[in-house]
Amino acid sequence: MNKQRFFEKYAIDIEFDLVKIRQAVRKISKEMQFDIVAQTKLLTAVSELARNVFDYVGKGEVIVEEVGDSLKTGLKITVIDNGSGIPDIDRAMSGGFSTSKGLGKGLSGTKKLMDEFSIQSEVGKGTEVVIVKWVA
Ligand SMILES: Nc1ncnc2c1ncn2[C@@H]1O[C@H](COP(=O)(O)OP(=O)(O)OP(=O)(O)O)[C@@H](O)[C@H]1O
Ligand SMILES: [Mg+2]
Repeated sequence: MNKQRFFEKYAIDIEFDLVKIRQAVRKISKEMQFDIVAQTKLLTAVSELARNVFDYVGKGEVIVEEVGDSLKTGLKITVIDNGSGIPDIDRAMSGGFSTSKGLGKGLSGTKKLMDEFSIQSEVGKGTEVVIVKWVA
């Protein structure tokens, strides 16, 4: 990586942090000149992931950073918690499984909206989701 004009960390602690994270992603995605559709996808994705951390764990962190090289620029968002972890990732990603009253579409929907998506989770240790969207 040889260009990074943006790197910020945001805590997830109280519900209003979700608003602050949305605002930050809205601002940076506009500045990076993502089109409106991509901006909306990024906002939706980060909202779903941060909401999961808040709902299922209570606390966590979101790292928003610009990534890329001379050919492409993207926004990478890492959402991390030290919570319970997800016992069955395949089931959680299947798009209909929820341990709450949700639709179970948060993780699978987020993957569809992004160019890159990876999830790592360990029971008792926590969960890390990394998403990337490239500027078209
Ligand atoms: N950070 C997390 N820590 C622990 N469990 C999680 C975490 N994120 C998701 N999960 C588990 O994975 C399931 C699926 O998550 P997903 O976001 O896809 O759906 P949901 O939150 O249940 O519903 P929706 O997001 O559609 O409102 C959740 O019900 C929860 O059990
Ligand atoms: Mg969810």
